[in-house]
Amino acid sequence: MLDQAQVLQALENVYDPELHQSIVELNMVRHVAIEPGGAIAVDIALTVEGCPLHQKITEDVNHVLRKDPNVTDVAVHLSVMNEQERKVAFQKAFANAQKNRGQTQSQSPNVAPPSSGRKAPSIGPLPGQEAALGMMSDANKTVVIGIASGKGGVGKSTVTANLAVALKQLGARVGVIDMDIYGFSQGRMFGAKEKARVNEREQIIPWHVHGIELVSMGMFVEEGQAIVWRGPMLGKMMQQFFTDVAWPELDYLLVDLPPGTGDVALDVAQKIRKAKLILVTTPQEVATYVAHRAGDVAVRAHQEIIGVIENMSYVVCPHGERMDIFGSGGGKSLAGRFQVPLLGQIPLETTVRQGGDDGAPVVISEPFSLSSRAFLEIADRIKQQIDKEAAG
Ligand SMILES: Nc1ncnc2c1ncn2[C@@H]1O[C@H](COP(=O)(O)OP(=O)(O)O)[C@@H](O)[C@H]1O
Ligand SMILES: [Mg+2]
Repeated sequence: MLDQAQVLQALENVYDPELHQSIVELNMVRHVAIEPGGAIAVDIALTVEGCPLHQKITEDVNHVLRKDPNVTDVAVHLSVMNEQERKVAFQKAFANAQKNRGQTQSQSPNVAPPSSGRKAPSIGPLPGQEAALGMMSDANKTVVIGIASGKGGVGKSTVTANLAVALKQLGARVGVIDMDIYGFSQGRMFGAKEKARVNEREQIIPWHVHGIELVSMGMFVEEGQAIVWRGPMLGKMMQQFFTDVAWPELDYLLVDLPPGTGDVALDVAQKIRKAKLILVTTPQEVATYVAHRAGDVAVRAHQEIIGVIENMSYVVCPHGERMDIFGSGGGKSLAGRFQVPLLGQIPLETTVRQGGDDGAPVVISEPFSLSSRAFLEIADRIKQQIDKEAAG
C-alpha cells in the first residue's frame, strides 16, 4: 500500500495545466488521507476559483494514483487558494520557470548562474520590488509610452521596435516590453532567441539587442506555442515585466500593447499612472475606427495620448510618385479627434517587413530608407515634445 511520501511522489507528476509545474512543488496539495482499504483522498487548492482546468488536475491525480493496483478509490477535493497563497504559488512558478529555462542556456559571465536542483527558492518580498516601485512611481524619470493600435496587423510592433532604436540613436537609453503576451513578436523583430535568464536576485535579465533592453513572452515560450493562461495569470505576467526585471536606468520604456481596445492598455494605465500612449493606425477607416476606441479608453483612464503615427501610409512607385494604396487621412483624423499631433507617416516598404523578419529593425538594416527617416523624425519629435514637457 502507498504511504504519504509515495503518494506525494506520485503527485509530483501532476502538473498545473497553466503554470506547467508540479502541484506538489506549487504547494497545491494540502492534505492526503489514505484509508486502510486502499482509498485515497487528496485535498488540492487551486490557484484561482472556477479554474476551467480543474477537471484536468482531477483526472491526472486519478491517473497517477490508480497506477498502483492497491489503490481502490481516489477522491479529489478542490478548494481555492487565498490571495497570499496564490501570490506565493505564482512567485514560485515564475522563479522555477526562470531557473529551469536558465539552466539550458549559456550563461553570460557577469551573471550568477541560477542555482541548480529542483527545490523552490525561498519566498520573500517580490524580487525587484524596490526597482519596480522605482519604475512605477511618479517620481521615476523613465518615460513609459504604450504603443496601441486597436486593430492588429497595422504595424504596432514594427513601430515599437523602430522607435526604440531611433530613440536610442538619438542618445536615449531605451527599454521595450512586449506586452502582447499571446502574439509576442519583438524577439523576432530584434533577432533575440535566447530563453530567459535570471540574476542572483531572481530578476529577469532583459535581452540586450541592438542597444535596446527588451523583455518578451518569447523568453519563456516558443513562437507559435499556445499560451492558455487566463486573466489573472496574464495580469501577473504583465506586472512582472515591470516589477521583476533587472531594468537598468532608462530614459524611455516602450510598451508594445496587444491589439484590442481594452484591458491590457487600461491595466498599464492604472499600474503606471505616468504612462503615455501613442496610437498607431493605417490610413484606412476601419483601422482608425478601432484606434479611436483605444484612444477613448486612454482618455477615460486619464492617460495622456502624445500623438498618432500613421503606418503603411503610402507606397513610392519606381518613378517616384506616391500612391495611397490604403486610402488617406486616417492618421490625421485620429489625431484631430484627440487633438494631438500626427507624429509622422511611415511608407509601406518591403525593407520594413524584411527588417522585422530578419531581426534587425529597418532603422538599422536600411538606415537611409524613407521609412527609417520617418522613424527618426518621429523619434526626434517625441523626444522634443517630452523634453519640453519636462522643462515646462
Ligand atoms: N511600413 C511597413 N512597410 C512594410 N511592411 C510593414 C510595415 N509596417 C509593418 N509591416 C509588416 O506588416 C506586418 C504586421 O506588422 P506588425 O508590426 O507585426 O503589426 P501589429 O503589431 O500591429 O500586429 C509585419 O509583417 C510587418 O513586417
Ligand atoms: Mg504586434
